[in-house]
Amino acid sequence: SGPGKELPVVWAQEGAPVHLPCSLKSPNLDPNFLRRGGVIWQHQPDSGGRYTVLSVAPGGLRSGRQPLHPHVQLEERGLQRGDFSLWLRPALRTDAGEYHATVRLPNRALSCSLRLRVGQASMIASPSGVLKLSDWVLLNCSFSRPDRPVSVHWFQGQNRVPVYNSPRHFLAETFLLLPQVSPLDSGTWGCVLTYRDGFNVSITYNLKVL
Ligand SMILES: *[C@@H]1O[C@H](CO)[C@@H](O)[C@H](O)[C@H]1NC(C)=O
Ligand SMILES: *[C@@H]1O[C@H](CO)[C@@H](O)[C@H](O)[C@H]1NC(C)=O
Repeated sequence: SGPGKELPVVWAQEGAPVHLPCSLKSPNLDPNFLRRGGVIWQHQPDSGGRYTVLSVAPGGLRSGRQPLHPHVQLEERGLQRGDFSLWLRPALRTDAGEYHATVRLPNRALSCSLRLRVGQASMIASPSGVLKLSDWVLLNCSFSRPDRPVSVHWFQGQNRVPVYNSPRHFLAETFLLLPQVSPLDSGTWGCVLTYRDGFNVSITYNLKVL
């Protein structure tokens, strides 16, 4: 990213893993050369106060603000492959903010910058609670992101059987109405929201019908 440019945004679902990409795109990378490199990842939370999340020196010595958070990880064996990406497993609300990676190689320094946004996913049933035969229920699938998803897919059960419009299922964007439930409807219902940048979230709800 160049100076003055808007930082690329990476979205994460709170509680799910997220990949903060930073890699060299070059066909002939020598692992021995890369092993002599190091990377420093810094985080600037929205509330301010930049700190080093993780730093790996040439030779592999790790450091960072103590205690080192186990949910912050580098790509496995990534350094030898020119991949300096950071993983947050899982992403937490407090992880939001700017990230800056500085990669130092024997002959040059490179940098990556991005902004991480962490959103919350939810599925709300109206009415909530246990349903009786022939009750109706409306499922509201949502993720706290300002733009609308480009696609919404609904599924049922552990095997994720797709749900389509039918007399027993009314789909409207991020809503699914079951006008008359039966005990067969008990179990998992889920939605997958996919956004323009390729980010997707899968949200499930456990429906109970007597
Ligand atoms: C659906 O859920 C979201 C997130 O909780 C909420 O903001 C929205 O108002 C709900 N929509 C309806 C129609 O209930
Ligand atoms: C959803 O995102 C994950 C992680 O980025 C990706 O592996 C998967 O292919 C995506 N799924 C769809 C349906 O786009």
